[in-house]
Amino acid sequence: MSIVVSDLRKYYEVHHKEPGLIGSLRAFVRRRYAIVKAVDNITFSIAPGEMVGFLGPNGAGKTTTLKVLSGLLYPTSGVVEVLGAKPFVRQNAFLKQITLVMGQKQQLLWDLPASETFEVNRVIYEVPAEDYRRILAELTELLDLGDLLKKQVRKLSLGERMKCELAAALLHRPKILFLDEPTIGLDVTMQARVREFIAEYNRRYDATVLLTSHYMADVTALCKRVIVINQGKLLYDGDLQKMIEQVAPHKLIRVELAQPVVAEALACYGIVERLDGLEADLLVDRAKTTRIGARMLAELPVADVTIAEPPIEEIISEVFRTPQAGDLDDNREA
Ligand SMILES: Nc1ncnc2c1ncn2[C@@H]1O[C@H](COP(=O)(O)OP(=O)(O)OP(=O)(O)O)[C@@H](O)[C@H]1O
Ligand SMILES: [Mg+2]
Repeated sequence: MSIVVSDLRKYYEVHHKEPGLIGSLRAFVRRRYAIVKAVDNITFSIAPGEMVGFLGPNGAGKTTTLKVLSGLLYPTSGVVEVLGAKPFVRQNAFLKQITLVMGQKQQLLWDLPASETFEVNRVIYEVPAEDYRRILAELTELLDLGDLLKKQVRKLSLGERMKCELAAALLHRPKILFLDEPTIGLDVTMQARVREFIAEYNRRYDATVLLTSHYMADVTALCKRVIVINQGKLLYDGDLQKMIEQVAPHKLIRVELAQPVVAEALACYGIVERLDGLEADLLVDRAKTTRIGARMLAELPVADVTIAEPPIEEIISEVFRTPQAGDLDDNREA
């Protein structure tokens, strides 16, 4: 296994102060702490070369977990092993094999061209000159960096900067990528570019990827398996498609009609979500989708039919709403 996490807990102690002067004085005499259970007893493991989506709402504990895995935070309790090493020891040999990319933070020096930060990283990670040239050429090609590296970072667009950030984080060719919202704020085209790059990096180097994103397209495109957490606890670990099937019993059939029909004429096929002139969306029983699609083609004046999954954002929020979400079957062995 590349990554082994067992009964991991990470609690933050936060200093509690009552408002006002009296509160300050009281806090001075007797400090009060509140405990935030950011990660509360989670267990999972990830095999080499796997790409896993790490999902959960804001504050679920995703970033905290990634920080523990990359050795930035010391766990409160539990076992964490990444490539057989304990991340918090921060041995050089370990640090050379991992990277953490945070879409909301930047490592590139703002007033200098990215190539300067690259040079710093080359020295820190002790990348031999020849390897460095080869890796840089490859990243330049894959990410289409062109002359961007020579431009002052502050003058780059967000998307250009993110591509440079990714390159900077991968110059030492890590085997494990912790990607914390690597596409945040990017437009859809650039999101897709970054996504393709991650897939290609995984293919070429059999790298292990643990990825968080609030853009579900990233997850569906890259990850067959997802780990879902909420309030520090594990809700689901398993096949993304199976999860979708369990929490979303319907598929969406979109029909384009050749002539208008009344809503009642559609109601016998499924739940009419929308009827807008010649376009209609129907929710139909997942197991019967193909049959119903065929019947509609035969019985209605249909110009076109497409079958789609409901938007995954809805599916994920459904997981959080399911009271026994923890009881969802997953397909992992214990
Ligand atoms: N340094 C800290 N001190 C105290 N509490 C913290 C600290 N960092 C995070 N937390 C708390 O821990 C919990 C988990 O935060 P975390 O950043 O891991 O969530 P997340 O899943 O990454 O959320 P998001 O999707 O918003 O990025 C939150 O309640 C957060 O407020
Ligand atoms: Mg986060």
